[in-house]
Amino acid sequence: MNIVLFGPPGSGKGTQAARLKDRFALAHVSTGDLLRAAVAAGTELGRKVQGILASGELVSDDIVLELIREAVVETEADPSLHGWMLDGYPRTMGQSRALDGLLREQGGCIDAVVVLEVDREAVIERLSARRTCTECKAVYNLKGNPPRQEGKCDHCGGKVIQRSDDEPATISNRLDVYEAQTRPILEYYEAGKVPIHRVDGGRPVDEVTSAIEDALR
Ligand code: AP5
Repeated sequence: MNIVLFGPPGSGKGTQAARLKDRFALAHVSTGDLLRAAVAAGTELGRKVQGILASGELVSDDIVLELIREAVVETEADPSLHGWMLDGYPRTMGQSRALDGLLREQGGCIDAVVVLEVDREAVIERLSARRTCTECKAVYNLKGNPPRQEGKCDHCGGKVIQRSDDEPATISNRLDVYEAQTRPILEYYEAGKVPIHRVDGGRPVDEVTSAIEDALR
C-alpha cells in the first residue's frame, strides 16, 4: 500500500505517520526529515538547502526527487515493508508529475491520498509550540504533549529543540506557500481518479489516527 499524507504545515502528518507506519508496515518517507538530516550532517546538499528551509520556501523539485527516488527504491528492496507513506511530498505540480514518472518506472502506484484538514489559526498555534528531538525526530507540543523533562526526549534522551522554521513569520510564509503551490495538487489527483480521503485533523491525535485507519481499511 502506497500512501501520500497531505496537508498544511502543522496538520499532523509527521505525528500520524509515526503512529501508522508500524501498524501498516510502511516506510515513513519525510522529505523534510531527509533535508534536515542533510543540514545537520553538514553535507553539500545540507549547505545548499539550509537557508531555503529556514525561510519556509521550497527546495527545488530536482533535489527532492532524488531523495524520493532513493527512498522508494530502498522500500521496494525491503521485504518487511508493505509500501511507503510519503510525508511532505509531492508539494508542487512538477513533483506530482515526477512522482508519477518514477512510479511508472518502478511499476507502482499511489493507493490513496490522505488529506489532514486543519484551519490556519490552529496550525499556527501548534507550530509555535512544537518541539522536536534532534536524534529520533519524536515530535512534542509544549501545550498538549511536552517532554517529561524540559529539553530532553522521553524516548531516546536526545536534545529537544524548536525547528528553525517554526518562527511566526516563517510559519506564515510556509502556509502561504502551501496554499499557492501545494493545495492545487489535489485537483490533479482528483482528475487522475486517485482515491482521496479527507480527515478532520483538528481533532485529538487518537481520533485522527482512528479516522485514517478506517479510511485506509
Ligand atoms: P516538512 O518537514 O515537510 O514540514 P511541513 O510540511 O511544513 O510539515 P510539518 O513537519 O511542519 O508539520 P506536520 O504536518 O508534520 O505536523 P506535526 O506532526 O509535526 O518541510 C520543511 C521544509 O523542508 C519545507 O518548508 C521546505 O523548505 C522543505 N521541503 C520539505 N519537503 C519538500 C518538498 N517536497 N519540496 C520542496 N521543499 C521541501 O505536528 C505539528 C505540531 O502539532 C506538533 O507539535 C504536534 O505535537 C502537534 N499535533 C499534531 N497533531 C495534533 C492534533 N491532532 N491535535 C493537537 N496537536 C497536534
